[in-house]
Amino acid sequence: MKRLIKNATLVDARGNHGKADVLIGEGRILSLSGGDADEAIEADGLMLAPGFFDPHAHLREPGQEVKEDLESGLKAAAKGGYTGVVAMPNTTPPIDTPEAVQALYKRARAIPGARLYVSAALTQGQEGARLTEAGLLKAAGAVLLTDDGHTNEDGGLLALGLRYAASYGLPVAVHAENAGLRRNGVMNEGPVSERLGLPGNPAVAETARIARDLEILRYVQQALEPTGHTPRLHVQHLSTARGLELIRAAKADGLPVTTEVTPHHLTLTDAVLEGMDPIYKVAPPLRTQADVEALIQGLEDGTIDGIGTDHAPHTLAEKEQDLLRAPFGIPNLEVAFPLLFTELVLKRGLKLEVLIARFTDGPRRALGLEPIHLEEGAPADLVLFAPNAERPVDPAHFVSKAKFSPWSGWKLAGWPVATLVEGQVVWRAEA
Ligand code: DOR
Repeated sequence: MKRLIKNATLVDARGNHGKADVLIGEGRILSLSGGDADEAIEADGLMLAPGFFDPHAHLREPGQEVKEDLESGLKAAAKGGYTGVVAMPNTTPPIDTPEAVQALYKRARAIPGARLYVSAALTQGQEGARLTEAGLLKAAGAVLLTDDGHTNEDGGLLALGLRYAASYGLPVAVHAENAGLRRNGVMNEGPVSERLGLPGNPAVAETARIARDLEILRYVQQALEPTGHTPRLHVQHLSTARGLELIRAAKADGLPVTTEVTPHHLTLTDAVLEGMDPIYKVAPPLRTQADVEALIQGLEDGTIDGIGTDHAPHTLAEKEQDLLRAPFGIPNLEVAFPLLFTELVLKRGLKLEVLIARFTDGPRRALGLEPIHLEEGAPADLVLFAPNAERPVDPAHFVSKAKFSPWSGWKLAGWPVATLVEGQVVWRAEA
């Protein structure tokens, strides 16, 4: 079966390529200049881009299906324009064996939605005491090792983990917070937390941990040099201007480090917590406007490789507890692109192809995956979005089980209208 996407404006990480008729078949882009098809999708006024890739989402399976499951998560991702999403392993139990990795891939095969990529725990049970089997996890299809949701307090174990992961070509992702400095903080430490009398989580919890991890990376890189293996460190959900500076310097120094930023750390500050609404409670916490400005700059100049959503669904009952008790996390797979398209491209003049690059090539490369561009022969993992139609965020219509959002009511443009994986339509907006 062949499909023709007609009159779409093509944009990928390399730029805006103007209008074209894109012929798709056998899961690939067959032509950018039309051709005979069994079905046509009229896309006049719409933009066509490579499908988005999320290196960081919590899909909660196994064990936390009351918050989200593979089906709701992969469909929510497709609705958000994602064709690939990396599921985090802080499930119940944590994903730390090859069997658990394989079971998720098997389940996902029956679900029409974004493609699933599984990350596995770096340490057994994510307990930070004993490493998992990097080689077996890689053979089972794990794309990344991480104890995300937990901090890697034992630097020696992280060094060893980076070494083993490197020998199997796997990156290690870190939730870079120092547990001692973070303590029981529920929001950014600063004037707002002081005024509210709430325990603060200071920026230094993140920056001290990033500084340590970069030094560990340097050490492992040197140790592995004779073997030809390269350790790869991915710093998750960067939230501070100082953390960005450290990563910028490390990159300039040739360290194999990559990083990501979330939609919330690019659009919200700790000022939103004045009303003590736990909907804004997230780890790491929302910071200051100066941090937001620095992160936007880092996204623009490429120090930040890509957007990682850290989509973290919880039940409404959990999130409606008071700020001290509610769990950390913000669901955002369905709003990430329109939010950043509106706030960064339309309002602040960020180049569209830069935003697209951070939703596609950047995070793919960070995980060692090939970039996808709009060219003949490329996989037909695509998103069509509407750059001009504005609509408010309405979490009641989320496909995700977590039907709440800090951006509820925000008027956004850039909503995806169709998502294709391997040439198949996995999500389409109702006309
Ligand atoms: O806010 C967060 N929620 N940050 C994390 O690192 C974990 C996540 C979760 O699993 O809910």
